Amino acid sequence: MNGGIQEIISAVKAYVEFERASGMDEYPRAAFNGGGGCRAAGDGQERDLDCLKREVLRCRGCSLAETRLNVVFGAGNPKAALMFVGEAPGSEEDIQGLPFVGRAGQLLTKIIEAIGMKREDVYIANVLKCRPPNNRAPLPTEILACRENIRRQIAIIKPEVICTLGKFASQTLLNTDTPISRLRGNLYEYEGIKVIPTFHPAYLLRNPQDKKLVWSDMKKIKALL
Ligand code: URA
Repeated sequence: MNGGIQEIISAVKAYVEFERASGMDEYPRAAFNGGGGCRAAGDGQERDLDCLKREVLRCRGCSLAETRLNVVFGAGNPKAALMFVGEAPGSEEDIQGLPFVGRAGQLLTKIIEAIGMKREDVYIANVLKCRPPNNRAPLPTEILACRENIRRQIAIIKPEVICTLGKFASQTLLNTDTPISRLRGNLYEYEGIKVIPTFHPAYLLRNPQDKKLVWSDMKKIKALL
C-alpha cells in the first residue's frame, strides 16, 4: 500500500520536474477548474463561471438529459450583487438555452426594472438546469443531482443578495419544507449570503393580487443592496 503511494508521489514529482525543465513553472488556475483543463477567457469570476458552464453543458447526471433540448446554465452579470434563483427551465427556456425568457421571464424583467435595475445587472439561474417534461415539478432526485451546480454557481458569483423565486428554489437553498407563503419576505442566509424568498413570477401570472407582496419583498432586497 505504502509502496504504491510512494510510487505515485515519485511519478508526480518526476512529471513536475519534467514540466519545469520544459519551462513550465506556473500552473494556470483555470486548468484546475472542473478538472477538465478549462482555459476559458476573461477574469476570475467570468472565467470560473465559463468553466463551470462547460462542465454543466455536458451533464448527464439525471434523466432530464434525455429529454432536454438545451441545458439552461444561467445568464447575466458574473459580478452581480443581486442573483435570482428560479425553479427549472420551461419550454421557451429549453428552446433558447436561456433562463426566464418566456411569459414568467417577461414579468421577472419588469420586477427587476421596478427596483431600478436592468436584467444585465443581475444574474439569473435555476436550481434545475434542464427542463422537466411538460413543465412538471422537479423530482427530489433531480434536485439532488443538480443542487451542486447552483451551489458552485453562487460560490463563484458571490452576490450580496439572492432572491429565490417560488417554493422549489426557496426550499432547496434554505433546506426546509416550510411553505413559500411563510418564507417569502423574510431574511435568511445561504452559505453566508443573504436570501430573500418571494413568489415565483409564474404564480403571479395566475395570482396577480399577490403582486403587492412581491413588491414589498423587492423593496427589502433593494434596501439590502
Ligand atoms: N420558470 C423558472 O423557474 N425558470 C425559468 O427559467 C423559467 C420559468
